[in-house]
Amino acid sequence: MSTQLIHTISELRETLSRQRRQGKTIGLVPTMGALHDGHGKLIEQSAQQADCTVVSIFVNPIQFNDPLDYDKYPRTLQTDVDCCASRCAGIVFAPSDEEMYPEPLRASVVVSELTEHLCGRFRPGHFRGVATVVMKLLQIVQPDRVYFGEKDAQQLAVIRRMVRDLNVPVEIVEVSTVREADGLAMSSRNQRLTHAEREIAPVLYRALLAARRRVSGGVRDTGEVKRHAEAMLRRPELRIEYFEIVDPDTMQPVERINGPVRVVTAVWLGSTRLIDNLLCEPQRL
Ligand code: PAJ
Repeated sequence: MSTQLIHTISELRETLSRQRRQGKTIGLVPTMGALHDGHGKLIEQSAQQADCTVVSIFVNPIQFNDPLDYDKYPRTLQTDVDCCASRCAGIVFAPSDEEMYPEPLRASVVVSELTEHLCGRFRPGHFRGVATVVMKLLQIVQPDRVYFGEKDAQQLAVIRRMVRDLNVPVEIVEVSTVREADGLAMSSRNQRLTHAEREIAPVLYRALLAARRRVSGGVRDTGEVKRHAEAMLRRPELRIEYFEIVDPDTMQPVERINGPVRVVTAVWLGSTRLIDNLLCEPQRL
């Protein structure tokens, strides 16, 4: 099927209003490009559920707290468009910075509390940038459903809360994390790993699995779960930014495990930051 590449908000709005007049449903998959099979799963799911899938590709400058990370972010529009076409997306929306931010921003979306810990603590301003661009994309596209990956669990929790608190009329669909054969969560940043780092990277998933085994084996004290898993990550090549056990909705750290929890981690492997997480259910007593 042919995929239409659109760069401006006005052309996108016109195209989508035509679709809507024909009674078609619209799915939105927000991305920053450098698409891999993780994004692919979101696109496929939307293509199955909606008549028209819009994939947005925009490396959003206001969510990068590190200018070097923004400069280094891979930009591969042509292969991304091919990837969208092979997965039956109807439209790729790839706006320029000027199209999205024609003048200095004076309004933005802040989701408090959920953004204080974890990535929010180490990447100041990041979630404000994410919530703001996602809100703009939702206003531009006005989709019936919007698709996000479980891989970025805190981002998903922030967007859920924003949509709830601000009564945004959209259904959020959560898609489980797509992994490489050795367990490493797919990420556009994996391309930056050296061969040696790539060999080490799956230890992140192994540490999460070890934590999950302890939780489902009946350990209730999060300190004990963390100590054991963190020991697996203690190696010279890795720097742990955080390894936490949190409430899946509020993303606040918990001390005793009395229900489902999410184990979340961020590490630096050389100059690449990797994140991953796993939902853990304690064994029923
Ligand atoms: P990006 O990192 O490109 O991710 C786009 C979407 O793909 C997110 O919802 C993310 O959770 C999902 N995703 C990434 N890797 C995945 C994997 N291995 N398995 C399943 N889903 C995966 O997240 C962003 O972009 C941006 O913050 C954005 C929401 C587009 C706002 O700029």
